[in-house]
Amino acid sequence: MLQKLVFFLSITFLWTQCTSEKKGNNTTNKLQNDLTMDHHSFGKPNEIATKHLALDLEVDFSSQKIKGKVSLTLENHGFTTLHLDTRNLNIQKVTLGEKEEKTVFTLEDTIPFLGQDLAIEVKPETNLVHVYYETTAGSDALQWLSAAQTSGKSLPYLFTQGQAILTRTWIPCQDSPGNRITYSARVKVPQELMVVMSADNPQAKNNTGIYAFEMKQPIPPYLIAMTIGNLAFKPLGERTGVYAEPEMLEKSAYEFVDMEKMLIAAENLYGKYLWGRYDVIVLPPSFPFGGMENPKLTFATPTIITGDRSLTSLVAHELAHSWSGNLVTNATWNDFWLNEGFTVYFERRIMESLYGADYAEMLALLGYQDLKATIESLGQDSADTHLFLALKGRDADDGMNDIAYEKGYLMLRTIESIIGRSKFDAFLKEYFHSHAFQSIDTKTFIDYFYSKIPKATLGDFTLEAWIYAPGIPAGHYENKSKKFALIDKKVEAFIKNDDIRKWDTKSWTTHEWLHFIRNLPKDLDQEKMKNLDLVFNFSDSGNAEILDVWFELAIYNGYIHSIEDKLEAFLVSVGRRKFLTPLYKGLKETNQLELAKKIYNKARPNYHSVATHTMDELLGYK
Ligand code: BES
Ligand code: ZN
Repeated sequence: MLQKLVFFLSITFLWTQCTSEKKGNNTTNKLQNDLTMDHHSFGKPNEIATKHLALDLEVDFSSQKIKGKVSLTLENHGFTTLHLDTRNLNIQKVTLGEKEEKTVFTLEDTIPFLGQDLAIEVKPETNLVHVYYETTAGSDALQWLSAAQTSGKSLPYLFTQGQAILTRTWIPCQDSPGNRITYSARVKVPQELMVVMSADNPQAKNNTGIYAFEMKQPIPPYLIAMTIGNLAFKPLGERTGVYAEPEMLEKSAYEFVDMEKMLIAAENLYGKYLWGRYDVIVLPPSFPFGGMENPKLTFATPTIITGDRSLTSLVAHELAHSWSGNLVTNATWNDFWLNEGFTVYFERRIMESLYGADYAEMLALLGYQDLKATIESLGQDSADTHLFLALKGRDADDGMNDIAYEKGYLMLRTIESIIGRSKFDAFLKEYFHSHAFQSIDTKTFIDYFYSKIPKATLGDFTLEAWIYAPGIPAGHYENKSKKFALIDKKVEAFIKNDDIRKWDTKSWTTHEWLHFIRNLPKDLDQEKMKNLDLVFNFSDSGNAEILDVWFELAIYNGYIHSIEDKLEAFLVSVGRRKFLTPLYKGLKETNQLELAKKIYNKARPNYHSVATHTMDELLGYK
């Protein structure tokens, strides 16, 4: 409580300081009104904006440090202090201009979640600043993997994760999604390794260990990303391809065979792809997310490589972010739904266009189940179920749940059903086109929407009811799936002791299995659990999504003794937070905290900070 109060006071203080500072010319107030206030950044781009970021880095695997400098090109509106975001960085020296004259800097006090404001003295005419720095063990964006933690087992690996506010833990910058920058980089690594970034990329290793990158389109800093490892590349289509460790390359290429088709389908829906190439890199299993839409190079979990191409909607999702998110970006993390809601809608349209409406409806229904469960757990009236979030003073990560994704999707699907698909598609295409390479807030979206689609044409529907109020508004669209209706019957039959050995399940897809397992009750007797496992072999499924829901069911049904070893193996090898959370939570809720901790102690060294933060809190480690 005290900590919260102190935090609130310091933010209020910072804000007052920011509005009362009158160092510059008298356009200050106007400029300040032009950009949305981001409560998760110390940067004041209204005063001095960073426009280009040039990295010159050396990566040292033995000390697990990145060392070097970042040079920032400035647009200075006549101010004398540049504010950058940093967290757990070691700042060594700051210089100005081509001549690199030394200047004074202050690292302000640490603010929870945000890190430290790096305040640098500049001249009103300064347009270039160089910060010399190195990362530390607290640089949470980075996950350093030992050779043993990779597929090849012979070389180390490093990847970064920037979203939401982690880029500042490896690069001093104005780390706000409202401030777009172009970037370039020169990265030196041990010769056996290759570097790729969210930029134009090499397709083969060179023998110097030095790699150069360029991102010419202006992007928010959370999209700066890098992976270093023993990497290989395989093209999939004219503009698409896949990177992975050599051991994973063929399997990955098989899985993503339709990537070029997805790209074409996406362009046919909402306009030209403006980023040049679209490649995916398959990371080691500790990657804490399913996917991350780093521009030109999506980062993906290997848990979607199932051998049957059944989890590729994740690629459609990350690809869709090339429009929603990367082209039109949420201005602050309160507007996160603008990124994810549109992306889920777009993802399902891509899947529909490749694999048909039945397929997309299954995805939508699974999403709707997630949405209902999330609202239930947050509370029907919780302000965290509004699309527009209030994350001031909180970790930006707190708002990253199914509300943005699935409530956002459901609202857009509802609009589609009211105004018709062709009108909605025309609106979306124009929306992406007219806001390309801009960061916008929720209010800007609302005004734009009503300017194109008058309120009077929408019946009882209002954006406000979805965006600024809790729960799911009445009159929302209802997805239906014939395939799932059949599965519902199977669930009933199973409960009534139907002989599952006689079922013909050959045609069931992953999504039907997920629907089946998720809808089984939590009080099945041991005989039934055993029978399920025997007949359907869930515990040995090669599909992580199925394993995850099966293990969860087993935990709640007291079937843990039979799956404990496999559960442990899963939790030790996979670091995807979406899978970890329900399993550790299940163990905790069923009074098996000791077992949860025993497994967690073994698994924790394999997890990225994003996952350990959540699990530490869940299991009472902090
Ligand atoms: N941008 C997100 C991942 C993310 C969100 C990282 C918030 C950090 C903070 C990405 O596009 C995403 O949504 N990934 C999902 C998969 C998707 C198919 C729903 C995931 O990781 O599970
Ligand atoms: Zn997403």
